[in-house]
Amino acid sequence: MNWLDTSNRSKVLAIIGQGYVGLPLAMAAIDAGWSVIGIEKSAFRVDQLNSGSSPVEDISDDRLARAISAHKFEASNNPSDVALASVVTICVPTPLDASRNPDLELLENATKDIAPHLSDGTLLVSESTSYPGTLRDVIVPLVNSLKSAETETLYFASAPERVNPGDPVWDQKNTPRLVGGIDEQSQNRALAFYNSICDSVVATSNPEIAEAAKILENTFRLVNIAMINEFTQLCSSQGINVHEVINAAATKPYGFMPFRPGVGIGGHCIPVDPLYLTWWARKGGQVASLVERSDEIANQMPIYVAERALALAKSAIVAPKVLIMGVAYKPGVGDVRETPASALRAALVARGAEVAWVDPLVPLWEGTNPVTEDWACDVAIVATNQPGMDIKAILGRGAPVLDCTNNYGELSGVELL
Ligand SMILES: NC(=O)c1ccc[n+]([C@@H]2O[C@H](COP(=O)([O-])OP(=O)(O)OC[C@H]3O[C@@H](n4cnc5c(N)ncnc54)[C@H](O)[C@@H]3O)[C@@H](O)[C@H]2O)c1
Repeated sequence: MNWLDTSNRSKVLAIIGQGYVGLPLAMAAIDAGWSVIGIEKSAFRVDQLNSGSSPVEDISDDRLARAISAHKFEASNNPSDVALASVVTICVPTPLDASRNPDLELLENATKDIAPHLSDGTLLVSESTSYPGTLRDVIVPLVNSLKSAETETLYFASAPERVNPGDPVWDQKNTPRLVGGIDEQSQNRALAFYNSICDSVVATSNPEIAEAAKILENTFRLVNIAMINEFTQLCSSQGINVHEVINAAATKPYGFMPFRPGVGIGGHCIPVDPLYLTWWARKGGQVASLVERSDEIANQMPIYVAERALALAKSAIVAPKVLIMGVAYKPGVGDVRETPASALRAALVARGAEVAWVDPLVPLWEGTNPVTEDWACDVAIVATNQPGMDIKAILGRGAPVLDCTNNYGELSGVELL
């Protein structure tokens, strides 16, 4: 390390993976008095971070630069630097493979990278989302088989991250943190660590409860989003405004939570985590049939949206020009991972449309550049309500707009889902 203050090992934290989860955790830990080594595989990202440029929207360049100049943060692509830390957290992606099954390769590789370098007495926590049993059955055996001979005792816990990127209210500090240690000593150390950072820490009786709770939270979202998207299609086919229905139902003071229709599901979590559950169920000889059906409905929604939009274009047009407005998976961020806009574009193209896109927060998407908003479209789809998009200009040129975000229904020429 070149400038990090590592003089007090008991307050040195190493975080594996400096993305949407790892970097905000680093900044929250620094606020709580920790020195943080941001271990990152991407050499480009290490240089970017060490020059004070933040790759995630929730952390400003200014905040990062202050942490660097206070000698409290340094990024590194050397996994052996974990030897300097008393606590190590793993925050690497847990995606799906080509068959849409859990792909733990990055998690396993990160574990293998650091295992030989963990100092005796280190607490290792996994914050990555995965199915119950990942800590106990995957991470712990790997570490134990690769740790150095001098490292006698290690402590293990699961503390799944719940951060919601772009959320102005809930962050690493004020979101209650679930913590499940593999044994009592691990639990005590993990609770002490998260109590130093978070306002509220919730102990679970073992890591599997914490891991399962995280999967439950995101599966709850998937099932409800799928349900409301199906319900939207039913209402729309009967000429009923689903938004009024949802608003009416939401006046019930208990037992109802409003979910809103949209193009589909996106991001690293909601399209992915429930499939960790369905895989885990099948591994145990069970079928999570409601979750599997919800996944199917969610994946069908972009096709429905494409067909609704094309129905708005003049029927004489052979290859309608369709402008997708907002391609990030949610407003306020430039994150296009698993964005339903991809399936929307594919469905439009498959139906003969010429498709272009705009998104003030996304400079490049799937190797394509945005057009300018004066692109002469036959129909526009507001897929994600990004700031700075001029819907009125599109309407002013006479193109109909399908608004999937329920923000522009008052404007003439706009149709809602
Ligand atoms: N993004 C979210 O909203 C969110 C919310 C809660 C939980 N999670 C979970 O947190 C985990 C991390 O997600 P993320 O969104 O931060 O991912 P991300 O892609 O934003 O960041 C992960 C980083 O880890 C790095 N990395 C991968 N392998 C590495 C290795 N061996 N050593 C060092 N660095 C490595 C990558 O280069 C990348 O920069 C996932 O399990 C995800 O499901 C994500």
